[in-house]
This record gives sequence, structure tokens and C-alpha cells, in this order.
Amino acid sequence: MVTGAPPLPNAFISGSGFYVPPRVLDNETFAKTYGIDTTHEWIVKRTGIEERRFSDEGVATSDLAVPAAEQAIERAGISKTDLDMIIFATLSPDHAFPGSGVYLQEKLGLCSGEQAKFVPALDVRNQCSGFLYSLATASSMVQSGNCKHVLVVGAETHSAALDLTTRGRTVSSLFGDGAGAVVVSATEEDRGVRGWYLGADGRFADALSQKVWDIKKRPFIPQNEEGVGQAQPDHMFATMDGKLVFRNAVERMIRVLMEAFNDLSLTRDDIDLFLFHQANMRINQYIADQVGIPEDRLVHNIQRYGNTTAATIPILIAEAERDGRLVPGKKVAMVAFGSGFTWGAAIVDW
Ligand code: ACO
Repeated sequence: MVTGAPPLPNAFISGSGFYVPPRVLDNETFAKTYGIDTTHEWIVKRTGIEERRFSDEGVATSDLAVPAAEQAIERAGISKTDLDMIIFATLSPDHAFPGSGVYLQEKLGLCSGEQAKFVPALDVRNQCSGFLYSLATASSMVQSGNCKHVLVVGAETHSAALDLTTRGRTVSSLFGDGAGAVVVSATEEDRGVRGWYLGADGRFADALSQKVWDIKKRPFIPQNEEGVGQAQPDHMFATMDGKLVFRNAVERMIRVLMEAFNDLSLTRDDIDLFLFHQANMRINQYIADQVGIPEDRLVHNIQRYGNTTAATIPILIAEAERDGRLVPGKKVAMVAFGSGFTWGAAIVDW
């Protein structure tokens, strides 16, 4: 008898968690608090957003991640020390460096005591596609046999870095803070991540960007005579060509979903639940119309949280698990698009 290496495991999502800060700003409060010339009607009509959550000063992105991660670990039925790796997706990290993954590791208590476990911590910088890039990385680590449990977190503190004036209203009215987390675990069962599909088009790198500094320049942030760094508003805050983003989002999200369907010989009718990145309700409704996805198979939360970038899809997962829409046996399609431009899809058997 010939014996070979043991079969490689499947990678499945064994637990999920989320956390959003308690401070709710509906559109009216958002406009009034910051004196922004906008209306509830304008924001809802163009984006579907009714309210968002903003963190208070003093709260870091890694702080938002802690309760989300702890819930995901508990629901996975493991302890923190069972983790083999942390992947942290964010465009609003605590600092320029190091990444937020190491802060989360320390805040989870993995760096002290007898059970200290100095697992690798990787930050992923792929904006709204960050969670799917991270899920692809985590499932590859698990399927290769190198890790049994990988914590994947998407978390954002947008509120600290938005231009909360009328000048910045096109971008600032879209975003909110939050964190979502999953544990990706090894299993011998016939379930889990069936395929992931990622792409990027760097020709559009500047179409949605936040260039707080320019490393080509000396100094990399302009300084005044006292040596104080001073970034101009168009560098300090995100800038976006909204119509270009909209057109590319629709096209790329449909195309990457079709790529996944072709590769796995699926049709839209095989999918029980579609979890789309929540950038704009109109983007998602347009895609649903084009692909012929019935409304009851789409999950939205943009009304309540706005665009939470890398946190969006794991928050959707956690909420759909809690409300009973996402249970073992369901087939799920996740699709995202964001700055870069970057995009991704994943098909998962729950
Ligand atoms: N309230 C009132 N008026 C506004 C607001 C606001 N919040 N924002 C913009 N306007 C005004 C503009 O100033 C402009 O006024 P003007 O004609 O006097 O100059 C007018 O509304 C039209 O502005 P546009 O930018 O042309 O509006 P558009 O119809 O394109 O809608 C929007 C803007 C909602 C941002 C749209 O382009 C969009 O959704 N694009 C996709 C954006 C997106 O999804 N981004 C994030 C994805 S990627 C990621 O998350 C990292």
C-alpha cells in the first residue's frame, strides 16, 4: 500500500463577531453636529445611508477590534491561545506603523502571562476589499496545513480622518466606524471556502486615496518654521472621484462574481445569501438587478452603519449569523470593491 501525505483540510468560518461604537449619528444629527450643508433626503437618495456610528476621541481602531475578536473566538469554541495567526485589515490603522495587528494581539492578552503566544500579526491594506484579501490569505494558510485557527479582523475608525465640513461632505457623509471579525479554522468536513477571486487595477490608484504624506518629498509632510508638520486638507483627508468609483464598482463586482460562478460551475440560483460590500445601496441594487438576485437573498446594513470599509463584510456575517439567516448548509457569495482599485469575491459553504 502506498501512503502519501494526509489530505489537506478545508478552511471554514468557525466563529464571527462585531462591534460598533455606541454613538449614533443619524443624517440630521450628522449635519447639525458639524454644521455641514447636507440633508437626510440627499444622503438617503444617493446612498441609502440613514445613520452611522462614530467613535469617541481616545478610542483606537485596535480597541474596536477587541470585542469583535473576542466574540468570534468565543463563538468558534476556542481560546485565544489556540490562534496561530492574526490578520488585521484596515485603512485607518492606529498609527502609520506598526500595524494594528500587533496592538490587537497585545490587547487580547496574548503577549503576557504563562500562556503568552507570540503569533504572527499581519496587517492588510486593501481598503474595502481588505476583508476578502484577508480571508483568502487566512484560508490559504489553513488549507496549506500551516495554521489551524486564524483570526481575521476588519476594523475602521473613519470618523477621525473625515473632512467634517461642507467642503468634505461628498466623502464624509458616506463612512462610519466599526469592527467585524471571524475565525478561519481547519476542518475535515466538506464545507468552507470553496474559492476566492481577487484583482486590482493600479491605474486608478489616485481615484480614491488619502495622501496624508508624500514620501517622495523632503520632508514627507510640509513643515512650518517651527518644524510642525502641516498637511493641507486635500492631503489630510480622502479624496474621491465618486462617479468613476461608482462605474468601476458595478462593473468589477459583477465581473468577479461571474468569474467565481464560472470557476465553480455555479449560477445565481445556487447562492442562498449574497454579502456585498456596503459602499452605496444604489451600487448593490444595480448589481442585484443586473444579475437577477432576489431581494430576500441580499443582506444590507448600510442604512445603519454607512460604509465601514474592511469591517463591512465581517459585520454582515456576524449579524446574519445572529439573526439566523446564515446557518450551516447555506452557500454564500461575498463580493467587494474599493480603493486601489481592488476587488474580490469568495464563495463559502457555511
Ligand atoms: N449633501 C448635499 N450635497 C452634496 C453632498 C451631500 N452629502 N455630497 C455632494 N453634494 C453635492 C456636490 O457638491 C455637487 O454639487 P454641485 O453640483 O453644486 O457641485 C452635487 O451634490 C453632485 O455631486 P456629485 O459628486 O456629482 O454627486 P453624485 O451623484 O456623483 O453622488 C456619490 C455622489 C454619492 C458619492 C456617488 O458618486 C457615489 O456613491 N459614488 C460611489 C462612491 C463610493 O462608493 N465610494 C466608496 C467605495 S470604495 C471604499 O469604500 C474605499
